Amino acid sequence: MPIPERLKPSFRKEPEPRVDRIEEARKRLIVALDVPDASSAHALMERLENSCRWFKVGLELFVSAGPAVLEPLMARGHSVFLDLKLHDIPNTVAGAVRSAARLGVKMMTLHATGGPAMLSAARTALKGLDNPPELLAVTVLTSMDRAQLRAVGVDGAPAAQVELLARMGLEAGIRGFVSSPEEAAMLRSLTGPESVLVIPGIRPAGTASGDQKRIATPGEALRQGATFLVVGRPITQAMDPAGATEAIVREMAEAL
Ligand code: C5P
Repeated sequence: MPIPERLKPSFRKEPEPRVDRIEEARKRLIVALDVPDASSAHALMERLENSCRWFKVGLELFVSAGPAVLEPLMARGHSVFLDLKLHDIPNTVAGAVRSAARLGVKMMTLHATGGPAMLSAARTALKGLDNPPELLAVTVLTSMDRAQLRAVGVDGAPAAQVELLARMGLEAGIRGFVSSPEEAAMLRSLTGPESVLVIPGIRPAGTASGDQKRIATPGEALRQGATFLVVGRPITQAMDPAGATEAIVREMAEAL
């Protein structure tokens, strides 16, 4: 699936006319900077910035370091995905989305379970802005299996809940979704070729799954229809993070 024009990083010029599959793979990899402070994040960025074009800033880092942590990333030309998984009343989420848009991030998340009114308010909050971030609705967390879902009152398989939430998101005008690799193919056929599917739960063969339950290898996730892959611990906790990133990029390139 092609990356929509608006989400193509401006970091490097495309090697024309030959489309370089390795470069294409780098553009589809998002490294999760799940570290406790700004100095660890910047150290990791410096080690990895030749290998990927996107960094994800999530709750751990954003709560500790604040919006200032984004500036060096953007100053070096990287694309930033702000993963705060917003979930609140529509008015509060709309305000948070506006604030995030001012930071210059290219994608951001909100929980689909916030409901249609919350999703619509988030979309409305971005109307009229130049280069608004892509709103991504998180369907079912990759750490949730059937038992975890049942515990929060949802009977049935994760895939059915992902489908229900994605249909609701589409109705509310959302065109980006986060799911596990297991639902990527279903989501791609449901949402069409233009939608942005951001897929975490990526585990190269032989790496630990940790708390993730619904996982796949980088190559498999791309073959299932992912636009972007999100990878955290297989890179950040590797002995050689840059080497681990390059191995993932090579596997991705083979699948493209
Ligand atoms: O370390 P790991 O590769 O499991 O990291 C996955 C990243 O993707 C984490 O930052 C996590 O917050 C995020 N994420 C996820 N599942 C979702 C949405 C985001 O694992 N549904």
